Amino acid sequence: MTEIAFQAITKQFGKAAKPAVDAVTFTVPADHTCMLVGKSGAGKTTLLRMVNRMIEPTSGKIVIAGKNVLEENPIELRRHIGYVIQQVGLFPHMNVAENIRVTAEVTGGWTKPRLARRVDELLDLVGLPPVEYRDRFPRELSGGQQQRVGLARALTTDPMILLMDEPFGALDAITRSQMQDELLRIQRNVRKTILFVTHDMEEALKLGDLIAVMHQGRLMQLGAPVDLLTHPVDDMVAQLVGSDNMLRELRYLTASTAADAGYPGPFPEAKPCPTCPPGSSLLDAMLKLFETRAPALALESVDSLPARYITLASIISTLTKGRRREGELESATATGRASGSP
Ligand SMILES: Nc1ncnc2c1ncn2[C@@H]1O[C@H](COP(=O)(O)OP(=O)(O)OP(=O)(O)O)[C@@H](O)[C@H]1O
Ligand SMILES: [Mg+2]
Repeated sequence: MTEIAFQAITKQFGKAAKPAVDAVTFTVPADHTCMLVGKSGAGKTTLLRMVNRMIEPTSGKIVIAGKNVLEENPIELRRHIGYVIQQVGLFPHMNVAENIRVTAEVTGGWTKPRLARRVDELLDLVGLPPVEYRDRFPRELSGGQQQRVGLARALTTDPMILLMDEPFGALDAITRSQMQDELLRIQRNVRKTILFVTHDMEEALKLGDLIAVMHQGRLMQLGAPVDLLTHPVDDMVAQLVGSDNMLRELRYLTASTAADAGYPGPFPEAKPCPTCPPGSSLLDAMLKLFETRAPALALESVDSLPARYITLASIISTLTKGRRREGELESATATGRASGSP
């Protein structure tokens, strides 16, 4: 169980006009995946690299599992922190197995047979059959396969934390999507606390339990993907996460967010409503409404709570709520200004 707590963490590079990371405070709970997003130069990489002390903070603390990392031995620290970057950096003269083993060999404490078993286990985990891949050299692998080896290497010593800096940034769309699914599968089996930098908002929404938005070294917002889509703190965040993107809302908001308390339910003589799992997307719910031509879907429920329904009207009202709130806010500010003026 490893949480990462940033406490007013700051990095000032030399005489730069502004700190690259400016008093950032937030916590990533154990076993959660936190995506770091923000424009180029926002401070994402700097924040990530302070966790394993590849960059030393100017002030503030990073507390991992209750211990201040600044008081830890950096080498010992990195043994518990896997690091994956876009330029995989496999050693060209070593084959796949040797590349995966190398971290464990450097840190020591592994017997040869145990390490060999571990290599095969990891190759399986990242979807590369060991018999076929363990003896190949990096030049005999595609970019996506190299990235898989990079991920396996980061997992060799079974670290509690994974730091990933645009790991899938250079992959084509299909391979990228496969790698994302792979990471989700791995995260279901061997849970880690993950900090993951990306420029791809779809990737952030798909992989993140949490998304941290950075801008000019500051943390602008931290929240679940749904929170960011529905309640962005300002226009910058809204624009970055695409809160006004209706298709995105349909894909990432769950059916339960549109459950309609006011719908009276099917009348006794009518056919029972088709059902829908509460966790399915609004998009799937909407398609099911179209396909079945039913007036409403009943949300499946595991307990004996009263039935909840979802209708086209409730979906539309969920989608427009955010926009309406913005409108209300604008008119409220306008009224405030008018009444406040002398
Ligand atoms: N070693 C360094 N020395 C001086 N300034 C640096 C150094 N590393 C980064 N910076 C500056 O710190 C700021 C944040 O850089 P950082 O690499 O953390 O951004 P980023 O959010 O990862 O950007 P990108 O999305 O382009 O990778 C930038 O203004 C950058 O120029
Ligand atoms: Mg970066």
